[in-house]
Order: sequence, then structure tokens, then C-alpha cells
Amino acid sequence: MMVQTLLAVLGCCATLNAAPLASHTLIFKTEKPEAENLGAAKFDFTVDDLGKFTFSQGGKTWLQSAPPFLYTEGKRFSAEDGSLKLVHLETESGADKMGTWTSQCFVYMAGSRSWRLCMKKWQTPSFPLVVFQQHFINGTSGSARSTDRVISAFPSFQLSADDSGLAFLGYQGSMFGGTDIIIQGWNAGGVFLSGGTEGGPLAVYDKAGSVCIMAPFSEFMSSSREVDENSRVNWGVMGGVESVPAGFIHQTMVYCDTQGINQVFSDWGEFMRGYYDKEDTFRRADLTLNYLGYWTDGGAYYYYNTEPHQNYEQTMLDVKKDTDSQNIPYKYVQYDSWFYPKGPKGGTLTWNATKDIAPDGFQYLYNVNQWPAGAHNRYWSSQTPYAQANGGRYDFIVETEKAVPQDVHFWIDLFKEARTWGLILYEQDWLDREFAGLNATQSTVDVAKTWLMQMGQAARATGLTIQYCMSNPRHAMQSLEIPAVTQARVSGDYRAGSDQWQIGVISIFAHAMGIAPFKDTFWTITKQPGNTYDKEETHPELQAAVATLSMGPVGPSDMIQHTNVSMLMQCCTADGLILRPSKPATAIDKQFWQRAWGNEFGPGGEVWTTYNHVGQGWYFGIILAAAMDNSPSFNLTPSDAGFHFFNATRVMTRSAHSVTPMVYTFSEDNPLMLTNGCNRPNFCMYYTSPVFTVGGMEISIYGEEPKFVPMSSDRVANIDVTNDDVILTLKGTTGESTIFTNFINGEIIRHSCTFGQTGIAHLSLGGLHSSCKSY
Ligand SMILES: *[C@@H]1O[C@H](CO)[C@@H](O)[C@H](O)[C@H]1NC(C)=O
Ligand SMILES: *[C@@H]1O[C@H](CO)[C@@H](O)[C@H](O)[C@H]1NC(C)=O
Ligand SMILES: *[C@@H]1O[C@H](CO)[C@@H](O)[C@H](O)[C@H]1NC(C)=O
Ligand SMILES: *[C@@H]1O[C@H](CO)[C@@H](O)[C@H](O)[C@H]1NC(C)=O
Ligand SMILES: *[C@@H]1O[C@H](CO)[C@@H](O)[C@H](O)[C@H]1NC(C)=O
Repeated sequence: MMVQTLLAVLGCCATLNAAPLASHTLIFKTEKPEAENLGAAKFDFTVDDLGKFTFSQGGKTWLQSAPPFLYTEGKRFSAEDGSLKLVHLETESGADKMGTWTSQCFVYMAGSRSWRLCMKKWQTPSFPLVVFQQHFINGTSGSARSTDRVISAFPSFQLSADDSGLAFLGYQGSMFGGTDIIIQGWNAGGVFLSGGTEGGPLAVYDKAGSVCIMAPFSEFMSSSREVDENSRVNWGVMGGVESVPAGFIHQTMVYCDTQGINQVFSDWGEFMRGYYDKEDTFRRADLTLNYLGYWTDGGAYYYYNTEPHQNYEQTMLDVKKDTDSQNIPYKYVQYDSWFYPKGPKGGTLTWNATKDIAPDGFQYLYNVNQWPAGAHNRYWSSQTPYAQANGGRYDFIVETEKAVPQDVHFWIDLFKEARTWGLILYEQDWLDREFAGLNATQSTVDVAKTWLMQMGQAARATGLTIQYCMSNPRHAMQSLEIPAVTQARVSGDYRAGSDQWQIGVISIFAHAMGIAPFKDTFWTITKQPGNTYDKEETHPELQAAVATLSMGPVGPSDMIQHTNVSMLMQCCTADGLILRPSKPATAIDKQFWQRAWGNEFGPGGEVWTTYNHVGQGWYFGIILAAAMDNSPSFNLTPSDAGFHFFNATRVMTRSAHSVTPMVYTFSEDNPLMLTNGCNRPNFCMYYTSPVFTVGGMEISIYGEEPKFVPMSSDRVANIDVTNDDVILTLKGTTGESTIFTNFINGEIIRHSCTFGQTGIAHLSLGGLHSSCKSY
């Protein structure tokens, strides 16, 4: 896709100015205004006449280039030893939907093959980024190295010991790159970076809010990074690729800005989503992101486990009956890998329920339970009868253990069939193993991309959304081109009592990619008798809070009769609508500083923040502090919380465990002290409010007290501020009651409201007595 787009751009609009080798320096400066609270200087990007480049800031070098190299004809061609020959300099300019750009290009010869390396920069508007391109004018052959290496390097960066004050954050491994996150000093110790097929974005940061993100920019499935023997970070085509087709373009970007890790990742993500037209319409329409659901995946009570002497069909019927009788508003069910037949190495044979699982079929279950379904799938077995090689109808590449479809009609037929039993969310699990388990996916630049793009195209055509599970960062980034992918698992499988809930760091990357991060299922009651894991959930409420703050699915998996309904319902309205924040809760920047430089610089444990944006520009902050058992106290300011762009003048404590909320002044001079009392079972939550000064009163709004997110725009549609009153427009379901809490001149006032036929109510906060008008 990208190759075609870029070639089209070059074909139609670019002007090419060939220039002789000349000595000059290009300086790209960012025009973006700096954040007021961070006085960091802008980044400079300079390139010399031989193609050496540097990213620096205020005279300090952040990233220093190392020479490019390319493998072809079984040989290594490197600019370092002269085997890769620089023959030509070109500048190019053009326009695309992001704006006008210019590009500085260095044309090299590797033997008889031409390889053009360009550095592209948008000018109007200007973005704080450089795109590094490798144009494979004549392709390559005989290129393959080991899969964890790269066959080409540009850009390549030299790690040096002279890096005091810089640290890096690396997303890598499985679950969106959340399983092997690395945070440490940016120096020769960087060899601890794992790269290869599991690598992903790398960010270098300092203690003043400056950040440079390095990441693939296109052809995500065939892009890799490695750290080599010379302590260089090389970005290029993945090591298993035997030949790169002529005309192929590989791209990496470096994005440097000064507003801190959360903000720079968010801005970078906005640029990427804009570039790839990643729409959020699928995410907004995804029922599994809007409503509570019941899950049966790894860690769930009914994962490869049914009620005694019952099949799965009967168990699912009983779960539905039980949850109905307790008024738990589950709106869908997730079926895990227990339902379909598997081949010798555990791969999927056919993706439908076997007779012993559901004697009457999944369609029957759907008709009785009326639960639409999310359903799980693995990698494909080499024996799948869907494949032409096994007598089936569809084009698959079949290898000894696994197979991979290369046929959009396969997916369309599969999804159409599954719609008949209620499928709304297709969960593609084992993405990393499918990718690493085949030669074809790793030795070509297009097979893996085709697999994911076709899956996404078919989901779009049949009205499904997709959840990625066990994705590497490459799959995560590929989802930029696949609007139907709305969500992804971002940490290991749930196991009661474990720290799998710690998703504050990975959620920054998920948020940037426009993906709702999923923390996985959880239990709501500590003891689930007879569970197959022999475990207890020691902090169920934290699990429920984290799921609700994530913007991903909220999907418990309790044993029948073992749900803490009142605790769980802090997530949602009576109808099961999740009351969400406006963005996923993420770890504050100073948590990264603490990890790299120690307790002096930030909190130990987990400190995450998010907010709700309600009505005409009103913001209500949310702070979660947990697992601080071994941390010294930390004084959190509004700007530490990322709340510098709105008024967070009051902070209020959560009303958990019958404690009455209290209100405090919150400002840079009056920080919030977080202590080691914020542990797991007794995690801490705080909410901020602006002060509304009306009719001689100072009003701060806490919101819906029994909810994790008390001022969600899923509940509060608008806020009207008049001369003497503050009026909330609320949404709910007919007959539902709610209580809103606020403070008038420091005194707590609670107002109740019951929704009528329209589901809309107006609640006036300016009086001591409840004034709720419902219609
Ligand atoms: C490389 O590609 C260019 C442009 O398409 C072409 O003119 C040239 O003949 C090719 N060289 C080789 C060795 O294939
Ligand atoms: C599952 O699908 C396969 C292939 O389409 C079909 O042969 C088989 O009968 C189906 N099994 C059930 C239980 O519906
Ligand atoms: C993958 O390629 C290697 C090397 O070419 C070969 O030895 C191996 O049999 C291939 N594996 C599969 C599953 O095709
Ligand atoms: C339900 O949750 C509340 C709040 O966490 C807790 O106080 C209560 O003990 C829980 N009940 C059960 C049965 O676990
Ligand atoms: C915060 O409130 C003050 C006083 O009401 C106001 O002057 C200021 O503009 C507000 N700032 C923001 C960012 O809303």
C-alpha cells in the first residue's frame, strides 16, 4: 500500500534536482512552541555533505549517526569501509496531505545496485520529525542474515558512554511490546536492548521533558531494529528477508520534542494516525469497548473449565441465567480457544464450535442468551482443511507447523459465517507466534502485511472489530493501516493476585496508536472456589478500577454466584455502559524519571493520571496511586500529573470503603502527597475539579460518588455555568438513580437524580437541596 502511495506522490508531484557532491549543511529547526513550564531548547537536526547527521539540543548531542550498510549478493556493503559508494546527492521537494516537504538524498551503489537514502522533513506546516528513507531502486538478493538482525541500516545511531542525563524507554516483546519494556541509561549499557523481530519504538529522554522517539514509519511488518557489536542501533529491513523487491521503500522516523514523554508520544501518535487515516469511528462503535462483558479467556474461572458434569453450552447458559438474576448488565460474551478443534501443534483446524462443546451449536447459544460474542483464534494449523494445499478452497502458505492465509475471501467467508452466531469482535491471538513460526512471514517483505491487511479488510466488510493479542510492536504499528483494529491486550495473561494490571507505561504507546489498551479479565471476589489455578485475587477492586480507567474492555470472569456486584458496578451505569475517562490512564513522566535515576526524581510504584473533558472545555482530572509500598512519599503537582493545560484547583479523595470525600486546594505550591499507604488493596484515587465561582459560592464538583470515573462524559453531557448556578446535563436509563456529590465553600453536598422516559436530567448544583429535573 505505502509503496504505491509514495511512488504515486513522487510520480505526480515531486521535483528532482540533481546536484553534484557539494559541501553544505542542512539545518531543520522545529517551529513548535515550547510548553511554558519546560524551558527546553528546540532540537537541531544537521546533516553534512557525506550524510552524517546529528540530533542535538542546546549544544548537547542526543543522537549521532553511524555509517549505513546494506546486505546483498551475500555481501555486506558499508559506507564505513567504502564498499558502499556514495555517487550522488539530490534534493527533492513535494507535497502530500500533511503539507509540503523537502528531502535530502544520498545515492549509493552496492555493487551494481542503486540504494538511495533520503531524509525527509515537512516544512509547511512543520513537524518536529525527520523521516529516514531507504529506496531500494534495484532491490536486493542473497540478503538474508539471522532473523534478529537487519539487512540494511539507515538510520544507524552510535551509542556512547557520554550520555549523562539521558535515558531510554524501549517498547519490545509481546502484548503490544508491553512484556519486555526496558527503561535505563542511554549508553553502552544499551546492548541490553533486545531488538530483532520483537523490537519496537525507542524513546530517549532527559529530566527536563525533552524526548526523541525512534520508530518505523511504514512497512511495519518488515521493519526491525538491532543493537550490534559496535553499540550501534540500526534501523532497517528485518534480517530474514532474502530479497527486497525493486522499488521498495523502507522508512524510519525520529520525532523530537520538549513537552515530556506523555505529551510527545501523544503528539507523535496524532501525526501517525493522521498520516494513515486511522479513524476512530470503529472504536467508538465497538460494543465491547462501550459495555461490560463476560470473559472466558486465560485466567478466567471458566477457561478450559466448565461446571461439574456440564458441557460448555450448558455452562454458558447457566452463567447468563445467573448474571441476569443478579442484574449484572453484561452485554456480550467472549469465547476463548476452548471452542474450536486444534491440530497436532495446537494450531486451529476449523474455527467453529465442536459438537462436544456446543451440541446445539453456537447459533443456538446466541439465540437463547442473546449475547453477541467476542471470539478468540490462534495461529492456523498446517493441517487446516481451509487451505488449498489440504483440499480446501483458500490460498494459504502452508509450512511444517503453521499456515498463514493470503486470501481476503477466506476471511470474508469465515467472518460471514461467524456473524450467524453473533460475532462482533474477532480476537486474533498468538500474533507473535504466527509471525515467528513461519519462514514466509519473516523472509519476505509482504506476506505478513498481506495477512493482517486482508484480515482487517474482511472485518471492515463484515462489520466486525478486531482485538490483537500477543502482538509485537510491528503488529501494533501495522494496525495504523487497519481501522477495524480497535483494541489490543497490553500485558500478560491475567492470573489472580499477579501484577499483570500494571499497564500505565504501555498504555502510552497504545494511546498513540489509537488502540484501546486491554488489561485482560479479572475476578471481582477474592476466593473463587475450585478454580483451576489455585489462586486468590488479593485486590479485586484495583483490577476493576484499572480496567475502567484503561478505556479497554471491562470483562470479569467470575464463577457463577461469585461476583461482587456493587464493587464491579463502580465501572458502569446500571445498563452496563462503561463510564470512561477521555484518554487511557497512563504513568506520569516522573515515574519514568524514577525508573532511570532513582527516588529523588519521581515516585516508586505506580502513579497514573487521566481526565475527563466535559462540555465546553471543562476538565476533571483523575489520579491513581498504587503499589507504592516501597516508595518514599511523593509530592505530586498539577503539572506532574499532566494537568498543566487545565484548571485543577481542587483535589478530592475517593469515597472508597465508606470514607467521606474531602476537598483540598491543589496547585504547584500545594501538591498532593502520595504515600506508601497507596498499596494494592488500598490503592488511592483522587479527582480534580476547577472552582466554579457563582452567586458568591465556590463550587467544586466530585461527581458520581460510587463510580471509578465520577465525571465521565458518558454520563455528564454538558455543564452550564450561569451567574448563580452550575447545571449538569446527565444521561442515564429510565428508572436509574444516581447521586452527584459536590462541595460548596468546602462543605459536602449530595444531590440525587432519577432518570425518566427520555434518559436526560438536569441537575442544579447551586443549592443545598436537590434540584433534579428529569423528563
Ligand atoms: C537499477 O534501476 C534503474 C532504475 O530503474 C535502472 O535504470 C537500472 O538499469 C537498474 N540497474 C540494475 C543493475 O538493475
Ligand atoms: C466446521 O467447519 C468445517 C469446515 O467448514 C465443517 O466441515 C464442519 O462441519 C464444521 N463443524 C461444525 C461442528 O459445524
Ligand atoms: C525454513 O527455511 C529453512 C532454511 O531455508 C529450512 O531449512 C526450513 O525447512 C524451512 N522451514 C519451513 C517450515 O518451511
Ligand atoms: C465487595 O467489595 C467491597 C468493596 O471493595 C468490599 O468491602 C466487600 O467486602 C466485597 N464483598 C465481597 C463478598 O467480596
Ligand atoms: C483557570 O482559571 C482562572 C481563574 O478562573 C482563569 O483565569 C484561567 O484562564 C483558567 N485557566 C485555564 C487553563 O482554563
